[in-house]
Amino acid sequence: MITDPVQVDKVSGQTTTGHEWDGIRELNTPLPRWWLWIFYATIVFAFGYWIFYPSWPLASSFAPGVLGHTNRAAVLADVAFSNQVRKDMTADLQKASLQQIADSPKMLELALAQGRAAFGDNCAPCHGSGGQGQKGYPNLTAGRWLWGGTLDQIQATITHGIRAPNDADTHTSMMPAFGKDGILKADQIRQVANYVRTLDGLAPEQGVDVAAGKKVFADNCVACHGEDGKGNVDMGAANLTTKVWLYGNDINDLVYTITNARNSVMPAWGHRLDPETIKSLAVYVHSLGGGK
Ligand code: HEC
Ligand code: HEC
Repeated sequence: MITDPVQVDKVSGQTTTGHEWDGIRELNTPLPRWWLWIFYATIVFAFGYWIFYPSWPLASSFAPGVLGHTNRAAVLADVAFSNQVRKDMTADLQKASLQQIADSPKMLELALAQGRAAFGDNCAPCHGSGGQGQKGYPNLTAGRWLWGGTLDQIQATITHGIRAPNDADTHTSMMPAFGKDGILKADQIRQVANYVRTLDGLAPEQGVDVAAGKKVFADNCVACHGEDGKGNVDMGAANLTTKVWLYGNDINDLVYTITNARNSVMPAWGHRLDPETIKSLAVYVHSLGGGK
């Protein structure tokens, strides 16, 4: 580079910078106007930003800006807003009766969403993800209820559980262990088990005295299961005529049930879940297809 006196370029009419490389001189073309104005505007903007928004680091903190804006505060405000919306909605659930919830499309939608989530978290391990149950854990979709399938009955069962050791209002009632406790002999148990199969339209075993089984049933079982075997929801005594079985309808399953009794336990949820969640669960379980 050679330093060259500033001259006026004949072709463009611009002055040169005075720099020259191998005979090529550098034109001193001014920056475009539009570019300059944007450049000045960014400087003005930066001053504004420093004044209004958090910017410069200070010794122990930072310049907070006169607006006092922080991202954390913005997030907290959003969270507070959505909590408030949620609270308004759950306040509706709190006040409403189960029937009112079931009758209001808006509350029902919320209750079903909340109920489905709570069911997945708390109930699915035993009752299956869709409430279809498994051996020993009732199918909640089938309309065959041990303890009743109205909204209120379902809510009571969920709140207090069944034979739950830690709840004074839990459902109690024990089917006697007819074999283990020596109330019936093995052949009587086989007879009554076969009679129970006929109540549900199932074939009895060949050569078993079903009439004797009917007598055993009348003498020992009707107090809870009813004359016709249709059960009693006040005692959680299963309806034996619905084709839906908790412990199986195979003859060996029935003999085992009558010999040993099952008397399973369902935890009480009133101690663990808040009342709105239990309401939502009751509405959700009721909606699974078996609700009365
Ligand atoms: C540890 C396993 C377990 C869990 C978890 C559980 N249950 Fe149960 N549940 C049972 C058993 C066992 C029974 C049947 C008890 C009996 O034989 O009477 C039952 C019965 C019920 C019944 C009564 C059914 C009827 O026929 O009357 C309802 C309703 C019910 N459960 C709902 C729920 C809900 C809702 C949850 C979740 C909050 C839940 N259960 C969690 C084991 C469980
Ligand atoms: C004190 C009341 C009571 C008496 C008496 C009683 N049961 Fe039960 N039974 C129940 C209850 C409660 C259940 C549900 C128990 C459970 O969930 O573990 C049940 C369940 C059953 C089941 C299981 C149903 C299923 O879905 O798997 C059979 C079968 C049964 N009883 C047969 C009998 C027979 C047969 C007799 C008479 C020999 C009898 N029960 C007497 C209360 C009674």
